[in-house]
Amino acid sequence: MRYFIYGSPIFLKSNLISIKSIFGNFKVESNFINSYIISAHSASLNNKKSEINFLYRVLKILKTEKISEKNYLEDIKNTLIKTTIPNKKIRLECVDINSRRGYSAKDIEVYLGEYLEKIGAKVTLKNPEILCYIILFDMNCHIGFISYKKLSFIDPGRHYKTLSSGISRAEFKLMEAFDEFKIKLKPDQIAFDLGASPGGWSVLMAKKGVNVLAIDQGEMFSDKIKKLNINYIEATTPNMSKFKKNNIQILHIRKKFQEAIGFLDYVKKADIITCDMNISPEEASKAVLLFSGKLKKNAKLIFTIKCKTKFAKKYVEEAKTILSKHFKIESITALPSNRQELTLYGKFKN
Ligand SMILES: C[S@@+](CC[C@H](N)C(=O)[O-])C[C@H]1O[C@@H](n2cnc3c(N)ncnc32)[C@H](O)[C@@H]1O
Repeated sequence: MRYFIYGSPIFLKSNLISIKSIFGNFKVESNFINSYIISAHSASLNNKKSEINFLYRVLKILKTEKISEKNYLEDIKNTLIKTTIPNKKIRLECVDINSRRGYSAKDIEVYLGEYLEKIGAKVTLKNPEILCYIILFDMNCHIGFISYKKLSFIDPGRHYKTLSSGISRAEFKLMEAFDEFKIKLKPDQIAFDLGASPGGWSVLMAKKGVNVLAIDQGEMFSDKIKKLNINYIEATTPNMSKFKKNNIQILHIRKKFQEAIGFLDYVKKADIITCDMNISPEEASKAVLLFSGKLKKNAKLIFTIKCKTKFAKKYVEEAKTILSKHFKIESITALPSNRQELTLYGKFKN
């Protein structure tokens, strides 16, 4: 059996260790940076054994055929029609790795979609039941299907780009974390966002109706934020009765977290705390604990573990040792938009 696997572009060795822990013996048939086509005999796919998850996607391939320069699109189409196309509403997604053919993934999806419609298959972007993935790799076309409920897209970069507010690239990381950990925020909840500038995470939460206390000594992109119709102010004194009354969605405390603690006397307990500060995991974890006195039970924590080197485990241990005093660690994952860092998801215990 063949699989398409897509993992962290930074922790490449760890990707291979994770693949080994899932499959035992495997052979890499094609590899381009963090994408792999492997063949393996058995798999315990639901049984992720590693403590840290470095792999974004592990997908079964049902059909593989060679494709040629000359008949690029035709060959892809011919591979697709050799599969048993499910009689359900299908969405197509193409991932074209190291392609030099001059067709975008979207061009290929449109071409295949039009063909499938002609032959009576149900192709749709709205409420699909099945995701059909077409992976083009080393002049091979690999195809598979998965229930849309299990997986709604293959290429995270493409997916999240269309949803971004454009404040910062960091925003993708939080979108991915919310999806990966199935976190749904509700209007009128309260968030503490440590290391909030220039505002990507705060804006994402504010757009969901959450009131965000954004803490960072750096500047927020206030003009861009206001253009998004988000009610934003910079707090100069700790009198924050305005926060709720005036429907302020982002209140920016323009201070280091060490100097922002006093402001907490004026806010209600928070439902979520996020931390993306670019400081050591040890310092950042201690910062989160400082704010934890103002968290509701089961409040969620999203925390990026910045790894100065590629020995991720060392930094994970630093963060875990401190955070686990007050948080149940649910997951530690390399998300597609994480660079040299991992994302930790936890829940406040007290
Ligand atoms: C990666 S950026 C955060 C990006 C942000 N999540 C976004 O979505 O736009 C890291 C931020 O941590 C902030 N930071 C570093 N040390 C801090 C401290 N002691 N207190 C507050 N913020 C700090 C930096 O000023 C910087 O803006």
